[in-house]
Amino acid sequence: MGGTLPGGWGYRRATPADVDALDAIYGHAVHTSTATFDITAPPADYWLARIRSAEPGDHVVVAHRDDADGPVLGFAYSGAFRPRPAYQFTRETSIYLAPEVTGRGLGGALYPALLDLLRADGMHLAVAVVAGPNAASHALHRRAGFQEVGTLREVGRKFDRWVDTTWYQLRLPDAGQVDARPSMGMNPEIRS
Ligand SMILES: CC(C)(COP(=O)(O)OP(=O)(O)OC[C@H]1O[C@@H](n2cnc3c(N)ncnc32)[C@H](O)[C@@H]1OP(=O)(O)O)[C@@H](O)C(=O)NCCC(=O)NCCS
Repeated sequence: MGGTLPGGWGYRRATPADVDALDAIYGHAVHTSTATFDITAPPADYWLARIRSAEPGDHVVVAHRDDADGPVLGFAYSGAFRPRPAYQFTRETSIYLAPEVTGRGLGGALYPALLDLLRADGMHLAVAVVAGPNAASHALHRRAGFQEVGTLREVGRKFDRWVDTTWYQLRLPDAGQVDARPSMGMNPEIRS
């Protein structure tokens, strides 16, 4: 999996060798913005676990310069939405770029590559949470086809202020793929 993106970029699956780059990119957002509600950077094995996850719908895709060995300057990833079995066809998605490459179309080009992987895995819904005033992320999600479903007011507190989160969802089969997975045996005991 991998390919080229407009603007002299490429993308590929992340490998364990990318952990430092992911740490640096995400760490910058942790320390400077409300885009993430983390207030300290997660341990290195956090990204390693995501990269190594074999669960369908779990992916980390990196954007790199020019050839596949070029520096990684952004990544998009997906993982479990909530840890209950009936959510198995839903994935939470997110994306982070290094500050020096934002606003040039890279995020808008990389995100669909992640969404295609989710479709290929038979995932049904992508959910994204956009925190605070983040015009680029709101625009990116709308452009990728996500629909806004609601806002939680003052649900987070970071940098001594309350932060809202706006929730987005994308029905992945709506982009043309047939939603043909077998029906699940739903257990009425499963909590939402
Ligand atoms: C959010 C992010 C991934 C967007 O990627 P990007 O490459 O900067 O965005 P793009 O250049 O592809 O533009 C995507 C859309 O956002 C708009 N946009 C980009 N920067 C913007 C800005 N500063 N203000 C307003 N809109 C902006 C673009 O016009 C475009 O909208 P359109 O498709 O309707 O024309 C990137 O800015 C980023 O990593 N930000 C920091 C981390 C973050 O906020 N992650 C999201 C967590 S939910």
